[in-house]
Amino acid sequence: MTMPVVLDIESLDLEARGVAHNEGKVVFVEGALPSEKVEVEIVRRKPSYDTARVTRIIRSSAQRTKPACAHFGVCGGCAMQHLEPAAQVAIKQRVLEDALEHLGRVRPQRMLPPLHGPTWGYRYRARLSVRYVAKKGGVLVGFREKRGAYVADMSQCLVLPPHVSALLVPLRELIARLSIPRSIPQIEVAVGDETTVLLMRHMEALSAEDIQLLKSFGQTHGVSWWLQPKGLDSVHPLVREDAHRLAYSLPEFGLRMPFRPTDFTQVNHYINRTLVSKALSLLQLEPGQRVVDLFCGLGNFTLPLATRVKEVVGVEGSQALVDRAFEAARTNNLQERVHFKALNLFEVNAEWLRQLGRFDRMLIDPPREGAEAVSRALAELTYEERPDRIVYVSCNPATLARDAGILVNEGKFRLLEAGAINMFPHTGHVESIAVFENVRGA
Ligand SMILES: C[S@@+](CC[C@H](N)C(=O)[O-])C[C@H]1O[C@@H](n2cnc3c(N)ncnc32)[C@H](O)[C@@H]1O
Repeated sequence: MTMPVVLDIESLDLEARGVAHNEGKVVFVEGALPSEKVEVEIVRRKPSYDTARVTRIIRSSAQRTKPACAHFGVCGGCAMQHLEPAAQVAIKQRVLEDALEHLGRVRPQRMLPPLHGPTWGYRYRARLSVRYVAKKGGVLVGFREKRGAYVADMSQCLVLPPHVSALLVPLRELIARLSIPRSIPQIEVAVGDETTVLLMRHMEALSAEDIQLLKSFGQTHGVSWWLQPKGLDSVHPLVREDAHRLAYSLPEFGLRMPFRPTDFTQVNHYINRTLVSKALSLLQLEPGQRVVDLFCGLGNFTLPLATRVKEVVGVEGSQALVDRAFEAARTNNLQERVHFKALNLFEVNAEWLRQLGRFDRMLIDPPREGAEAVSRALAELTYEERPDRIVYVSCNPATLARDAGILVNEGKFRLLEAGAINMFPHTGHVESIAVFENVRGA
């Protein structure tokens, strides 16, 4: 029989595993929190680390809290519900600081207070998996389990808006009644201000009776169905009138932003509004300025910027999103102030940036891969050619840190401020924002 191992937990990783050391080796402990003393069972030994599971908590953390969701621990959607929300934010802020310091070798002059909002009901976009499970006598609809490829057997989800959570069980019943329950792998949810879209992927044709069932479900539950029979090009609304109903608003700027259920939009609408406001205030805008918005998507920052300054150029890789952004500019009467370009921003250089002309301000909001080519191009520009201020919004602290290292250590920009944004409470996902300043003679 193996002897129980007792460990003191030092910190938490982003999968919410406690980090400890045992005889010089790192151990990741599922279910343990920083400052706790726990007895563990080692579940896997690797050359450079072990993983373990808590068998007994000897000394519990003051920040430990009872997970609110009955599916916590099984469902892979959330990892941190057993930790107070304020402590979750503090951990994310520390992850950001550590990444900047160790990966980027940079330190901001000030840390910004974290941006946070409601901790439940915030997830306005989700991809729900669907599985027909003969053994359980029906269909499961939900997130995947933490371990393995199974769909969690869940009847509610507290991070989804309540009206979406309330659809989980009716959706199971609906899919079980369709003629092709085994051929529906997923349903994507996109919540707008006026409607909620359910986008169903189906690998076989739906029958006329199936279509009737979907329509009547849509009427009963107040949702719009979209269908995807094949690739992304095949996505379409079930009824034509639903084609333009999906939109979110940015009330501070008087904007309505239409989108399609497959477009990139920020998951948490409340935090998005706060984030757009914060980013614009950190840019220190003035009416006569020229601003560039890189990785602009459907214009989430571009259009608000256009309400404040003379000219904004949005650059984005997807032509479809650029078209959508321009359309939104037109319906919001901002088309005179915005220009859009579709372009691969992973392949740009200093010459390309020079050709765009000088900008007073720059906003960068890249995908997880970050903005390395853009950062290298900026680092090569002269003081006169560069924007005075850059605000960088990031969904990956590691690539933000790398790019900050390029901007500061090679380009001699100054990193003024950085802070965490709790876009996804209870998950390990870290969103952040950083502000860089052009420095003369650097
Ligand atoms: C984090 S999203 C930000 C979108 C937008 N700023 C917003 O707030 O909704 C990143 C955007 O980068 C775009 N993107 C991804 N790879 C790209 C590339 N190589 N070149 C240009 N844009 C890219 C995606 O299409 C997406 O719209």
